[in-house]
Amino acid sequence: MKKIILAASVVALIAVAIGVKSLSGSDVKDSMQAMKKNYAAAMSSTDMSEFSRYAALLQAAAHDASQQSYDGSKPNEIIYQAGMLELNQEMTALNQAVAANDLSKAKSILAKVNDSKKKYHTALGE
Ligand code: HEM
Repeated sequence: MKKIILAASVVALIAVAIGVKSLSGSDVKDSMQAMKKNYAAAMSSTDMSEFSRYAALLQAAAHDASQQSYDGSKPNEIIYQAGMLELNQEMTALNQAVAANDLSKAKSILAKVNDSKKKYHTALGE
């Protein structure tokens, strides 16, 4: 009987953990998908009002990603957070170009974001 209660408790705990994880919102993968979508939309924007809308959504997704942890291993977590910091710095430069209404500069900054993406995806083996 004790064994059954123990097994039921373990199953209940796992169910709660899965529930909490799904309620806690998006994971890295979801944030990355949102970044991809809004990055592409910003790059194909033809005016600043359109660009800035997608740039804001890209930044919101990047912010979400920065709040998540990678895989729990210390070396990867350090690389991941370094990449998120770099992304955040690029977003600051991006906002300056948006504020200056300079669409071509803003797009060239986003092209650099793509280099960071490649660098960190490679570093993390993604
Ligand atoms: C604008 C820049 C970036 C874009 C557009 C982007 C896009 C993506 C996409 C499309 C995926 C695949 C998601 C899937 O499997 O469905 C991905 C995965 C991933 N990216 Fe990025 N990424 C960017 C920057 C970064 C940076 C700077 C880092 C690290 C600091 C990073 C870390 C990761 C990781 C860890 C995954 C694997 C997620 C998982 O499968 O759980 N990405 N990214």
